[in-house]
Amino acid sequence: MATAAPSDHSDFTVTPVSPALGAQVVGLDVSRPLDPSTLAVLRDAFQDHHMLCFRDQRLDDDQQVAFSTQFGPLELFPEKDKTKGKIEVYNVANVSPEGEHLAQDDQRVIFQRNNGRWHTDSSYRYIPSLASIMYGVEVLPDDSEGGETGFSNMLAAYAALPDDKKVQLEPLHQVHSYADIRRLEPTMPPMTAAERDALPPVTHPVVRVHPERDYRRSLYFTANTSLEIGGMTHEDGKALHRWLVDYVNKPEFCYFHRWQPGDLVMWDNRVLLHRAIPYDYARYRRVLRRTTVAGAGPIMGPFWPEARKAAGG
Ligand SMILES: [Fe+2]
Repeated sequence: MATAAPSDHSDFTVTPVSPALGAQVVGLDVSRPLDPSTLAVLRDAFQDHHMLCFRDQRLDDDQQVAFSTQFGPLELFPEKDKTKGKIEVYNVANVSPEGEHLAQDDQRVIFQRNNGRWHTDSSYRYIPSLASIMYGVEVLPDDSEGGETGFSNMLAAYAALPDDKKVQLEPLHQVHSYADIRRLEPTMPPMTAAERDALPPVTHPVVRVHPERDYRRSLYFTANTSLEIGGMTHEDGKALHRWLVDYVNKPEFCYFHRWQPGDLVMWDNRVLLHRAIPYDYARYRRVLRRTTVAGAGPIMGPFWPEARKAAGG
């Protein structure tokens, strides 16, 4: 958990934004390459706070890609029509890359609506992402409602589970399917055969073990790629999924980020769920640009040999 005190690093500060997660970084220009000592401070802060907001940035797409690759190789987005200029830059917007305010029934806006469900990015991949990095180009005015990005801390959520729920969840998996977004948002056009072939459904453990955190455990599930937990009857799997979605809304796990122009928000997809809070899509323009740092390996469950060994089993 974050502490309340800011930490100074000669030219910039890192200050926690909530007890649950997150810190803001003020006084650092990330448009230029970072020196190794600054990168080391940021990696530590990212490990501790799970979400960093770099205030007052001015970035073009190339600079955002250059900043992001300092944390690892980037993912390419699976559907080119939702990217901006480069296939590494995902256009999270109700505005087209050409600047046109999109209709509410445009499939790119519907896709944004699906991101209003709790999720972690790229869970539909066999190796899901490590981090997402999102830059605020156009954001909602201060007096508008919605538009925040909500985060929920799955390390804290797992730790606070009742013991019987920990036992129940330990062996379980969820199916994550990119194509299933169409089940949740039926008006979206079908994927092409090539897209479906590139992104078959995958399963991930619902309890995730973190080797880089002394094998601590967190929850790992989504509400935007399927609506069931496996390993039980369909009805029980749906009910357990609903329970989890409700559970992670507890205020003590959550922080809701209100965007300012020039915010660059970087979050840990291994540890946090996030969701886009709905807003008046017809009235307001909102343009965010996302890059995604690829993960290093598949999700380790508590039943993996390494995890069992670490637990003394
Ligand atoms: Fe997302």
